[in-house]
Amino acid sequence: PPVTTGLRSAFSATRTSSVLGGKQKAVTFNRLMVNIGEDFNPDTGNFRCRIPGAYYFSFSVGKFPKKMLSVILVKNGEEVQAIAYDDYRKRGRKVQSQSIMITLKENDTVWLLLQQSTQYALYSNAGPYITFSGYLVYPDVSAPGYITNHLSPGLSYPNCPPHADPQDKGQMPRSAFSVARTSAFMGQSSRQQDKPPLSFDVEYVNIGGHFNKTSGLFTCRFPGAYFFAFTVGKHPRKAVSVKLMTGKGEVQAMVFDEDTSKRREMQSQSLLLSLQRDDSVWLYSQQDERYAVYSNQGRYTTFSGFLVYP
Ligand SMILES: *[C@@H]1O[C@H](CO)[C@@H](O)[C@H](O)[C@H]1NC(C)=O
Ligand SMILES: *[C@@H]1O[C@H](CO)[C@@H](O)[C@H](O)[C@H]1NC(C)=O
Repeated sequence: PPVTTGLRSAFSATRTSSVLGGKQKAVTFNRLMVNIGEDFNPDTGNFRCRIPGAYYFSFSVGKFPKKMLSVILVKNGEEVQAIAYDDYRKRGRKVQSQSIMITLKENDTVWLLLQQSTQYALYSNAGPYITFSGYLVYPDVSAPGYITNHLSPGLSYPNCPPHADPQDKGQMPRSAFSVARTSAFMGQSSRQQDKPPLSFDVEYVNIGGHFNKTSGLFTCRFPGAYFFAFTVGKHPRKAVSVKLMTGKGEVQAMVFDEDTSKRREMQSQSLLLSLQRDDSVWLYSQQDERYAVYSNQGRYTTFSGFLVYP
């Protein structure tokens, strides 16, 4: 078996009550569904990294009637990673989601930060609307000392030292990227037939280097089943239409919101795709003045993908 067998960390938690802004800083949880490795503390809402590596985190939060919604996935102090946001102050309830992959070192903490103002609140009930999940996708096998510190007692491979290079024999192929934009993208009317990819400026992870954030293209190097997820912000006064594309422009999945009010909110989508070597995957935002994608330093717009099974 690969040397990394036994390195497991995963949690999933839900919350069945609302949270009013200003009362607490971190979203805490009252139901724990999974906590493999015991790295998540539902009472503080903190995930604390035990095994260094690349982790995928996702969360969904309910918007409270007549309040705004702002929840940021933060690391350690309050380093912003990505946001879920909705400033629609109507009575309606709804859910907004976000997900990214980030690399963590031992003792790094990850949690959900609530906006500290009474204008903001999160809604939940026995439903529940509020969920937070995370799991280790690729342990960092090059981290010094992990084999002595982190393998569970009785689990060791004395004749099989860890490989620093993931492409060495005996190691599963790895491919993962997670990126964000810190600025808006405005659609422009154009007659061009090609569908230019949405580009990105923040790179959380790029394991294998298969994603080019300047061109916005992911290129498959290891055939297999890949998971893709993206979240885009809706720009005030614009509609949003973003498609997950492959090959010569085949649409695989999309998000859409034709509301052109001045509010900002998000749309999310995810899918598994079976890819061959040299297949490309990208996001396309409709090239038309009526459409745009919103983002800022809070990182509304994110795109992630990783190899699940070669
Ligand atoms: C992580 O925290 C534990 C407990 O506080 C401590 O024993 C350990 O040395 C820390 N590891 C690092 C790399 O800081
Ligand atoms: C990434 O894409 C840009 C723009 O298309 C290109 O100039 C650059 O060479 C690419 N980088 C790599 C490493 O392929």
